[in-house]
Amino acid sequence: MYINEKIKKLLEERLKQLNKLRPISSTLLLKLKERFEIEMIYHSNAIEGNTLTLKETYWVIQQGITVKGKPLKDHLEAKNHQEALTYLYDLVEHGNSNTISEHLIRSLHSLVIQDIDKNIAGQYRKVDVFITGTDHVPPSALEVPHKMLELITWCRKNYSKMYIVDFATELHHKFVHIHPFQDGNGRVGRLLMNVFLMAHGFPLVIIQKNDRQKYYRVLSAADQGNYKALATFISQAVLKSLNIYLDVLTPSKEKENWITLAQASKYCSYSQAYLGKLAKDGKLEAIKLKKNWLTTKEAVERYSKKE
Ligand SMILES: Nc1ncnc2c1ncn2[C@@H]1O[C@H](COP(=O)(O)OP(=O)(O)OP(=O)(O)O)[C@@H](O)[C@H]1O
Ligand SMILES: [Mg+2]
Repeated sequence: MYINEKIKKLLEERLKQLNKLRPISSTLLLKLKERFEIEMIYHSNAIEGNTLTLKETYWVIQQGITVKGKPLKDHLEAKNHQEALTYLYDLVEHGNSNTISEHLIRSLHSLVIQDIDKNIAGQYRKVDVFITGTDHVPPSALEVPHKMLELITWCRKNYSKMYIVDFATELHHKFVHIHPFQDGNGRVGRLLMNVFLMAHGFPLVIIQKNDRQKYYRVLSAADQGNYKALATFISQAVLKSLNIYLDVLTPSKEKENWITLAQASKYCSYSQAYLGKLAKDGKLEAIKLKKNWLTTKEAVERYSKKE
């Protein structure tokens, strides 16, 4: 397994908590879905150089507003990404997501690229590419069809054998490693891993723009066959989404209060710095707010008990 047992347990616990809250009121669910949609569109596009801010993304998507001074392409990318997300949600709701196929991957790509470059939408690349900022050189265009077939075979063989977060991690990397399209690989890769995570009940998982450097670093490690760092990175993003869902959906009287790590260190025998390390490693339930980690008294107690 790529992620350690502790992180897996934490994810499973949180997912169980979330499932206990189901069925979720449809108004709340819709609000959460909207919020995650906008954030995913913003972050996933911004990682690739789209200049719309989170607010502007909201205006474009929810209000249909055109932002003065921002390129048409950035607007189209936002709208396209939204359509791709609708397709993804539909797949997950109708339970077809277990059957990965080249058709599914090409369809996601078609939606992401559609009106931007019709000639490449849904088509594997005919040219060789490179990825700026990395040493990895994707396979030649001639090899892409074969590599994609291998990827599908790998998925079908390993889907039920691996822990889902490990599977989503390796799939994501294998896909962006091949870089089958001329453009849009990063975005399609992030949608693809969500197809499987969401089919397992996880909320939409978002890789944040601010984490771009780390994301590239852990992808490079995966190029060398080391999946641990990438899997931990992805599981932290999974945990973040779960925490937001739980925070919004838990009735306030049952809610645990967020406290700083300095406050938390008073409830246990760990130092503030050690708690910070645990939070960073995903071993302690915690969220990061403006560079500061927050946890709860109960989370610290749960961790102490387990140790
Ligand atoms: N070392 C690496 N190994 C494999 N994939 C990587 C590596 N570093 C980055 N990537 C992936 O490549 C993506 C960026 O590549 P590129 O800029 O060519 O993307 P793209 O095809 O234009 O797609 P998009 O515009 O959606 O990113 C990143 O989002 C990431 O998913
Ligand atoms: Mg691009």
